[in-house]
Amino acid sequence: MVSPKLKNNLVIFSLVFLILFPILDFPLIVSCDSTEEAHALLKWKTSLQNQNGSLLPSWTLNNPTKISPCTWFGIHCNHAGRVNSINLTSAGLKGTLHDFSFSSFPHLGYLDLRINQFFGIIPPQIGNLSMLKFLGLSFNQFSGSIPPEIGYLTHLKLLSFSKNQLSGFIPHEIGRLSSLNGLNLYSNFLKGSIPPSLGNLTSLIYIDIGNNLLSGSIPNEVGNLKSLSDLRLDNNTLSGSIPLSLGNLTKLGTLYLHTNALFGSIPYEIGNLKSLSDLQLSYNTLNGSIPFSLGNLTNLAILYIGINALSGSIPNEIGNLKSLLDLRLDNNTLSGSIPLSLGNLTKLVTLYL
Ligand SMILES: *[C@@H]1O[C@H](CO)[C@@H](O)[C@H](O)[C@H]1NC(C)=O
Ligand SMILES: *[C@@H]1O[C@H](CO)[C@@H](O)[C@H](O)[C@H]1NC(C)=O
Ligand SMILES: *[C@@H]1O[C@H](CO)[C@@H](O)[C@H](O)[C@H]1NC(C)=O
Ligand SMILES: *[C@@H]1O[C@H](CO)[C@@H](O)[C@H](O)[C@H]1NC(C)=O
Repeated sequence: MVSPKLKNNLVIFSLVFLILFPILDFPLIVSCDSTEEAHALLKWKTSLQNQNGSLLPSWTLNNPTKISPCTWFGIHCNHAGRVNSINLTSAGLKGTLHDFSFSSFPHLGYLDLRINQFFGIIPPQIGNLSMLKFLGLSFNQFSGSIPPEIGYLTHLKLLSFSKNQLSGFIPHEIGRLSSLNGLNLYSNFLKGSIPPSLGNLTSLIYIDIGNNLLSGSIPNEVGNLKSLSDLRLDNNTLSGSIPLSLGNLTKLGTLYLHTNALFGSIPYEIGNLKSLSDLQLSYNTLNGSIPFSLGNLTNLAILYIGINALSGSIPNEIGNLKSLLDLRLDNNTLSGSIPLSLGNLTKLVTLYL
C-alpha cells in the first residue's frame, strides 16, 4: 500500500515535474545541445562539395532564435530534439570525415553515407558514436585501414563498408560487436587473415567479405555463427581446408567460398546444411571425391564445384537435388559414368560436366 503522505508527495512531485519539465528542460537544455549539433553539421558542410552545385541548401541557420537541424535534408531527431539519424545516401557529396565532429552526436543511431564520393580515412573518433546501430559507408572511396576503435560500437547491427579502397587487416576488435546482424566488407583491399574473434558474433545473419586480399585459413570459429543465413568469403586467397564446423550452420542459404586457394576434400558435414540453395566452391584446388551427402541438400538451386581437383565418380545422390537449376562439375578429374539419376533433375537449365 502507498501511504497517503507518499501519495501526496507523488502528486506534488508529478505536478512540479509536469510544470517544470516543458519549461526548463526543453527550451534550455535541448536547444543548447541541438545548437551544438547544428554547428557541427555546418562546420562539416563547409568542407564538402556537391557534384550538382547546390550543396545541402536546407542546412542553414534560417531562424537564429531557434537553431535546430531537425528539419534539414537527411537529418532526423528523436522526440527530445537530438539528432539520431544522418542519412545522406546518394546525395552526390564529395569530401572527407576529417571535419566531422563525432563527439557532438551522442544520440546518433544511424549514419548512412552510402553511394557518394567520400574519401580519406575513417577517423578513429568514430568510436565515439556509442549509440550507433547502422553504419553505412559503402560505395565511396574511403581508404586506409578500419580503425580498431570500431570495437566500441557495441550497439551496431549493420556495418557496411563494401566497395571502398580500405586496406590493412580486419581488426580483431570487430569481435566486440556482439549485436551485429550484418557485416559487409565486400570489395576492398583488406589483407591478412579472417580474425577468429568473428566467431563471437553469434547474432550475425549475413557476412560478405568477398573480393579482398584475405589469406590464411577459414577460422573454425566461423562454425559458431549458428544464425548465419549468408556467408560469402569468395574471391580472396584463402587457403587450408574447409572447416568441418561449417556443418553446424544449418540456417545457411548461401555459401560462397569460390575463387580462393582452398584444398583438401569437401567435408561430408556440408550435407547437414539443409537450407542451402546456393553453394559455390569453384576455382579452388579441392580434391578427394564429391561427398554423397550433398544429395541431402534438396533446396539447392545452384551447385558450382567445377574447376577444382575433385576425383572419383559423380554420386547417384546428386539426382535427389530436384530443385537444381544450375549444376557445374566441369574441370575436375572425375571418372566413371554419368549417373542415370541426373535424368530426375527436370528443372535444370545449365549443366557442365
Ligand atoms: C537512407 O535513405 C535511403 C533512401 O531514402 C533508404 O533507402 C535507406 O534505408 C536509409 N538508411 C537508413 C539507415 O535508414
Ligand atoms: C545529385 O546528383 C546525384 C547523382 O547524379 C543525384 O542522385 C542526386 O539526387 C542529386 N542531388 C541533388 C541534391 O540534386
Ligand atoms: C572520443 O573523442 C575524444 C575527443 O574528441 C577522443 O579523445 C577520444 O579518444 C574519442 N573516443 C574514441 C573511442 O574514439
Ligand atoms: C572474442 O573472441 C576472441 C578469440 O576467439 C576471444 O579471445 C575473446 O575473449 C572474445 N570476446 C570478445 C568480447 O572479444
